[in-house]
Amino acid sequence: MRAALALGALVVALPAAAQPAAAPSYPAEMTQAQSDYVEHCGGCHGIHGIAAPADLPTLKDRVGWFTCLPQGRAYLVRLPNIARSRITDNDQLADLLNFMLFGLGGSSTPAGTKKFTGAEVAQARSTPFTSVSLVETRAVLVEQLIRQCGAPAALRLMYPGQAPPRLAATRSRKGG
Ligand code: HEC
Repeated sequence: MRAALALGALVVALPAAAQPAAAPSYPAEMTQAQSDYVEHCGGCHGIHGIAAPADLPTLKDRVGWFTCLPQGRAYLVRLPNIARSRITDNDQLADLLNFMLFGLGGSSTPAGTKKFTGAEVAQARSTPFTSVSLVETRAVLVEQLIRQCGAPAALRLMYPGQAPPRLAATRSRKGG
């Protein structure tokens, strides 16, 4: 938990400093949900849902796969940064998540996916994940998404093209 928080703080500091040059293609007037995303999530995940090569999951054209299974929908809300968001209004948080799914998720969001409602968000965020269980939870879920929903194998990674963690660890051990 402490390590994940420290990582989060580090990650948020880097892109925030680089932000003035970003964002050329955002419309001049953003919806509340878009500006909530930019303010509360974009510092880490990138305002267009891509933060690679930082070790953060790419949301763009990928995050929608999680809605294919009920436990995947719940996963999206129970993530610590979402469940414990400073946005306390559940309808407002649902709008943010819908922007993430239908705006950033692109074709990864299955046709016919239902929008999040405030009630669904309220229920799922009442049992937030702890950072300790998160990696394992994601790994199990992604295998289900690959098997049952035809999600791409690259969903196992944080972003397409990321060096697999074990390979990276081996390399740095050898290199050092
Ligand atoms: C401090 C940095 C930070 C902030 C702010 C943040 N996230 Fe994240 N997010 C992460 C990290 C790191 C992960 C990887 C899993 C973990 O440790 O939580 C993640 C995981 C996710 C995932 C899971 C994606 C996957 O492929 O498993 C989603 C979806 C997500 N975040 C959405 C959001 C949204 C929406 C917000 C804003 C309400 C947000 N995040 C705010 C750092 C952040």
